[in-house]
Amino acid sequence: MKKVLVVYYTQSGQLLEIAQQIAKPFIEDDAFQLDYHQIKMKNDFPFPWNGDEFFDTFPETFKQIPQELQPVNPEILSTDYDLILFHYQVWYLTPSIPINSFLKSEEAKQILSGKPVVTISGSRNMWAYAQEKMKVLLKENEASLVGNIALTDRHNNLISVITIVDWLFSGIKKRAFGIFPLPGVAQEEIESSDKFGKIIKSYLKNGNFIGMQEELVANGAVEFKFFLVSMDQKGNRMFNIWSNLILSNPKKRKLLVQLFKYYVICAIYILSPIVNIIELILYPLLWVLKIKRQKKYFQGV
Ligand SMILES: Cc1cc2nc3c(=O)[nH]c(=O)nc-3n(C[C@H](O)[C@H](O)[C@H](O)COP(=O)(O)O)c2cc1C
Repeated sequence: MKKVLVVYYTQSGQLLEIAQQIAKPFIEDDAFQLDYHQIKMKNDFPFPWNGDEFFDTFPETFKQIPQELQPVNPEILSTDYDLILFHYQVWYLTPSIPINSFLKSEEAKQILSGKPVVTISGSRNMWAYAQEKMKVLLKENEASLVGNIALTDRHNNLISVITIVDWLFSGIKKRAFGIFPLPGVAQEEIESSDKFGKIIKSYLKNGNFIGMQEELVANGAVEFKFFLVSMDQKGNRMFNIWSNLILSNPKKRKLLVQLFKYYVICAIYILSPIVNIIELILYPLLWVLKIKRQKKYFQGV
């Protein structure tokens, strides 16, 4: 019997729904044992969020400072799993604090060391450089990344900012102001994600993951959008400056976090459209110089 462990953290329940869909083909097959580990914080984050707490989480998230977690069930710690399905969300272009805290724990090392891992992210749309940080964290745990699925909100970037803020600050997945589309990963996409489970299961059965990522991508597991990756990269540079500034001035933290909030709003609604237009004009040149190469890289593992 092959043993599979699903690891996840979720505030809204969206990632659990995705995890359960992907796990379906394993549950329906007697040849597999499937266990869940829900990452739980000692002091959990609020959901719904309020504005102050939401932005105040930024520096520690971006600097990947771990916080205390509740212990892992000893049965899980003593099981030798054949595959880990690792579900995570992105906070500030970085794996969320609960995910980062788990991956920096001794327990994670015990579970992940020497194991194949498939990462599954459920984010708004900016996951690419968070996945790079995941690669580092998995390497530190001596795990081997064999697959990646990145599920996102596929609506326009400026619209999905409005709809996600409405969702995260109300705690309810609804049409913002009654006119905007629903936030988060589309329900149809969540419900059809058992197709990824089927693909992963067949490779696990054969004991070989070669070719699996290509098949996942061919089935829609990773959409590459150059503009988003480009914003993600620029955002990481600016977030580095802001997080250093906030953490090195604890007495002015409140003021600096407020300024950071205004910076983020300006960056999304003023700077990013201008950069997008420039990149659209240069698109053919950028395709030759880097887009083609980046697409291959970010759709791989
Ligand atoms: C504090 C915070 C920061 C976030 N930052 C990002 C981000 O940088 N990029 C992104 O695509 N999504 C971002 N999101 C959205 C999350 O990745 C995720 O889709 C959403 O919080 C739902 O996750 P859940 O499974 O915990 O409910 C952020 C969410 C929170 C709460």
